[in-house]
Amino acid sequence: MKQATLHQLKVFEVTARHGSFTRAAEELFLTQPTVSIQMKQLTKAVGLPLFEQVGKRLYLTTAGKELLATCQDVFERLDQFEMTVADLKGVKQGYLRLSVITTAKYVIPRLLGPFCQRYPGIDVSLTVTNHEQVVERLRENQDDLYIPSHPPENIDIHCHTFLDNPLVVLAPRSHPLAGETNIPIHRLSGESFIMREQGSGTRQAVEKLFAEHSVSIKVRLELGSNEAIKQAIAGGLGISVLSRHTLALEGAAGQLVILDVEHFPIPRHWYVVYPAGKQLSVVARAFFDYLQDEGRQVIESNLGENLHSGLAMTSTRA
Ligand code: PGA
Repeated sequence: MKQATLHQLKVFEVTARHGSFTRAAEELFLTQPTVSIQMKQLTKAVGLPLFEQVGKRLYLTTAGKELLATCQDVFERLDQFEMTVADLKGVKQGYLRLSVITTAKYVIPRLLGPFCQRYPGIDVSLTVTNHEQVVERLRENQDDLYIPSHPPENIDIHCHTFLDNPLVVLAPRSHPLAGETNIPIHRLSGESFIMREQGSGTRQAVEKLFAEHSVSIKVRLELGSNEAIKQAIAGGLGISVLSRHTLALEGAAGQLVILDVEHFPIPRHWYVVYPAGKQLSVVARAFFDYLQDEGRQVIESNLGENLHSGLAMTSTRA
């Protein structure tokens, strides 16, 4: 492997990602024969085939998979080194990769705004997906930091909670239970319900609470998006349980109301998490500390009234 060059490892990583010499060549602005020669030389240095071709697509061999994992480690360490050097020079710059659950998209961009203003040299990639996918990305070490609503089990992690994320029952304004207070939870039995998809943390929390209280709801529709669920509620398709933060921009005159059902809101929190063995880059560490030290305060001053309009709906529901 001593004969392999960093450039070859980069070409290999891109080829493995695309499963194609041609697409790798396009991304790297090289010709296809150059990519294929580089991969031949790398294969020779490794002493085992790295790809096998099935039809037009390249698949990694076992040696190829091992090499890909090694490349990812090497590039991550080099990125970290660059960020450390920038830090030593007195500037924070580099790349911050975040993956967050769907509800966090209502607050993370608000937190990133002031953070990126403070450190203009930082570029961010934000992946928004459901709980299961966030945990999968964490297992595969795809990002710097992860934001779930409950810390994943069976993974050794560092984790810190930074904001509440309560789940509430949402209904259209015209719903017969809309004006009532302290509604017994079993009154939801038989209601048409709009449920998040399998793998969603919201869904897990809702199913757990309903199972604990033997409430059986009628799932009429399953949707993979909080916004689509809000539209479906407004459209009269049923009620649902979502994070109160999904109402942040709705205002008190919106089409949805929070029902005052016993055992709600389900108390939840957002956590910022990274794998225990991972050495955080300077930039990721700065964001982790920022969430921990200033997250709540920034959100309250930034979303303040809108955040509380969700709360106000709770108190004006009667
Ligand atoms: P979900 O997570 O997008 O997987 O439902 C949201 C949450 O747990 O708050």
